[in-house]
Amino acid sequence: IRMCAPIGGLLTALVVVFGMAVAFAPVPRITWEHREVRLLQFHEPGIYNYSALLLSEDTDTLYIGAREAVFAVNALNVSEKQHEVYWKVSEDKKAKCAEKGKSRQTECLNYIRVLQPLSATALYVCGTNAFQPACDHLSLISFKFLGKNEDGKGRCPFDPAHSYTSVMVDGELYSGTSYNFLGSEPIISRNSSHSPLRTEYAIPWLNEPSFVFADVIRKSSDGADGEDDKVYFFFTEVSVEYEFVFRLMLPRIARVCKGDQGGLRTLQKKWTSFLKARLICSRPDSSLVFNVLRDVFVLRAPGLKVPVFYAVFTPQLNNVGLSAVCAYNLSTVEEVFSQGKYMQSATVEQSHTKWVRYNGPVPRPRPGACIDSEARAANYTSSLNLPDKTLQFVKDHPLMDDSVNPIDNRPRLIKKDVNYTQIVVDRTQALDGTVYDVMFVSTDRGALHKAVSLDNDVHIIEETQLFQDAEPVQTLLLSSKKGRRFVYAGSNSGVVQAPLAFCAKHGTCEDCVLARDPYCAWSLPAAACVSLHQAEGPSRGLIQDMSGDAASCPDKVKESYRQHFFKHGGTAELKCSQKSNLARVFWKFQNGVLKAESPKYGLVGRKNLLIFNLSEGDSGVYQCLSEERVRNKTVFQVVAKHVLEVKLVPRTLAVPTSPAVQTEGSRIAPKVSAVSTPGFPPPTPAVQVSSPRAVTPAPKPAPTSTSCEPKIVINTVPQLHSEKTMYLKPSDNRLLMSLFLLFFVLFLCLFFYNCYQGYLPGHCLKFRSALLLGKKKPKSDFCDREQSLKETLVEPGSFSQQNGEQPRPALDTGYETEQDTITSKVPTDREDSQRIDDLSTKDKPFDVKCELKFADSDADGD
Ligand SMILES: *[C@@H]1O[C@H](CO)[C@@H](O)[C@H](O)[C@H]1NC(C)=O
Ligand SMILES: *[C@@H]1O[C@H](CO)[C@@H](O)[C@H](O)[C@H]1NC(C)=O
Ligand SMILES: *[C@@H]1O[C@H](CO)[C@@H](O)[C@H](O)[C@H]1NC(C)=O
Ligand SMILES: *[C@@H]1O[C@H](CO)[C@@H](O)[C@H](O)[C@H]1NC(C)=O
Repeated sequence: IRMCAPIGGLLTALVVVFGMAVAFAPVPRITWEHREVRLLQFHEPGIYNYSALLLSEDTDTLYIGAREAVFAVNALNVSEKQHEVYWKVSEDKKAKCAEKGKSRQTECLNYIRVLQPLSATALYVCGTNAFQPACDHLSLISFKFLGKNEDGKGRCPFDPAHSYTSVMVDGELYSGTSYNFLGSEPIISRNSSHSPLRTEYAIPWLNEPSFVFADVIRKSSDGADGEDDKVYFFFTEVSVEYEFVFRLMLPRIARVCKGDQGGLRTLQKKWTSFLKARLICSRPDSSLVFNVLRDVFVLRAPGLKVPVFYAVFTPQLNNVGLSAVCAYNLSTVEEVFSQGKYMQSATVEQSHTKWVRYNGPVPRPRPGACIDSEARAANYTSSLNLPDKTLQFVKDHPLMDDSVNPIDNRPRLIKKDVNYTQIVVDRTQALDGTVYDVMFVSTDRGALHKAVSLDNDVHIIEETQLFQDAEPVQTLLLSSKKGRRFVYAGSNSGVVQAPLAFCAKHGTCEDCVLARDPYCAWSLPAAACVSLHQAEGPSRGLIQDMSGDAASCPDKVKESYRQHFFKHGGTAELKCSQKSNLARVFWKFQNGVLKAESPKYGLVGRKNLLIFNLSEGDSGVYQCLSEERVRNKTVFQVVAKHVLEVKLVPRTLAVPTSPAVQTEGSRIAPKVSAVSTPGFPPPTPAVQVSSPRAVTPAPKPAPTSTSCEPKIVINTVPQLHSEKTMYLKPSDNRLLMSLFLLFFVLFLCLFFYNCYQGYLPGHCLKFRSALLLGKKKPKSDFCDREQSLKETLVEPGSFSQQNGEQPRPALDTGYETEQDTITSKVPTDREDSQRIDDLSTKDKPFDVKCELKFADSDADGD
């Protein structure tokens, strides 16, 4: 394997991916579950694969292309369907498709892949149409297809599994997809009545590309150098310039000029302006390379001199789930194409071609350049009259040697344990006027991350579960209309509409500020966290601090608290709701910090406090505090305050109930805790074993008991059982049972064998002779012995008298049931092994040591 220098770095980079462990794990500060946010959604029963979204801001309509259907819905409420039209595959087409070996139910259908605006009254729609791609015009007046039935070859893939991208520019469709049934002929084309153009079918032009995105960048309005509009294509393709152990993928940006007319002789009806370059997305310090492009968003904003491309990447070998976002300055991209060096293929050792930097003379006009004022001045007014030299050069050198580096030479965001799929970016102004690029990145599990760069660090403001199921988000769209802004997301199951922020969900000023969400500010007059863009009028009385400094939040006038009454000996659960995943919660009792490890306390869900075995001393004020590190500061907050009163109810009032019922009650108690009704204490001191294992595994279950007297009686119920077996699942029990039975059978066998051989004295010999006499079997050989063993197993009645250990397997079912009373004798692990030990000493003559060892180690192992 020949490797050139840069690829050596790439190899290490790809290997580093496997070693990735702790870094790159910015945690979303808040996680909104699907049910918490109640997003508006659209789904038509029986219709799937909502893969194309198109927004008309003027009419507030969202067009949705799905499988065999196109919908128009209200963009302000996607659950309101306005129009629908179906485009089904005819039966004969379906039959033909199925004949070619494709699936009738899934592949031989019409997947809408192109949904582009054609005019004010029509959309351009293409579908896979059972492997015979077709395009049509959809009238927005009648919402009917006009029946144009154009050939969709080169505009829409044949196979719904193949990649595609397209953009409509001035009524002409630019698309990147595959041109044939097999998907083996990639193409970037312009569908135009007067000048259709396409790429050469040659490996240096496109090498098994996977198309991701395309968009037009208009020439700068000043038009200084008579520039042209350019269409950019983004894709990942198999590298030609590096040879590698496996097929190395590389992310590319390619561009063509809108004014391109193709060549006159060379490159006839082909692009004369097709150039491509490698996109770099890596961390220089970790040599971590992200080389598979997933999605691109073009950020245009009034304050931006040139647009910025935001791109989502994953590594090629992504077993750890790493993703990155890189941003590219359009100026950098243009510089590479207009001034960069070209790559050239050189044949070495007859067969191999190697790509190297081309350092020779470059013909004029510059190959691949758009026709600009300079070219026009030299009488090259169209690509049709470009010299052959220039055209031949660009035909052979479509790949640039220079790569496009990201802004700041590093990713904007690297995240572990996630596969990002799509991205949209919004440029917004915080209250203090600072501009932030807010990245909305979707995952392959139906979630959306909202992230922002804050002082060279990335802050994931929140994570929202957009879809109920963990399915990949396939399209993201951002509306840019002022005041009513949403993110729309499409997946296989439907479309959802999400607001840009959930400001109102932050209940306190501190929460609102700590969110560090540029869209949200605390309104003093409203005493609520509000969306900046919906807050009308002057920004007085608004608090926002993107560094997370909540010092300007008003003092809490009166701290509210909740009062609870609990019965003596019970278990209390005190609630504390802190949504932040970055905060650590701790509890204070009468100003002392509680230690969760103490047997007295436990934590549920890392936040709620459990107090076991309540006594008078536990009455008082409990405070839940959270500690959150924001930049270099630690912010403390009192999240909840509880006043607890433990009531002692005189014994005379005790209602006599049966111990069993009481046990039941006490078992449920911790689960329904925080009930502020004073209850009656249990009548007997022994039964209330508040089983902490039912609620939390954290605290060591202390021997607990209860009596009506304040004095605490230490109960002697062995707790080993609960501690050790509480995690055993039913399947484990079964395993244990069968193991136990196996050993028991072995034990029986050995016992019987030894007995039969006469190694055992006393009762055993009596038993033996009785047996031998009864069966009249004077002689023994191996088979006989086996036979007799089987018989013994069938009727073990007499045998059980011998050692009294017979019922043990039955007792073992105790693993599965909760044992809260001290009266029932439950074998614990230790008791079991104890008993086996007894046995081994008692029945010394057996050579059963190893079995016992197994039994022991088995119990310990669990
Ligand atoms: C279409 O949606 C179905 C149902 O969710 C899914 O199984 C299938 O993979 C999707 N097909 C494509 C091509 O996206
Ligand atoms: C992009 O590059 C140009 C020229 O170097 C520069 O003026 C501009 O500020 C850059 N934009 C961004 C967003 O970095
Ligand atoms: C361009 O063409 C015009 C008219 O055909 C001619 O007068 C002029 O000299 C040409 N200029 C160059 C630079 O060749
Ligand atoms: C990311 O994708 C890879 C490959 O498809 C998969 O093995 C991995 O489980 C995914 N990780 C996450 C966190 O979704």
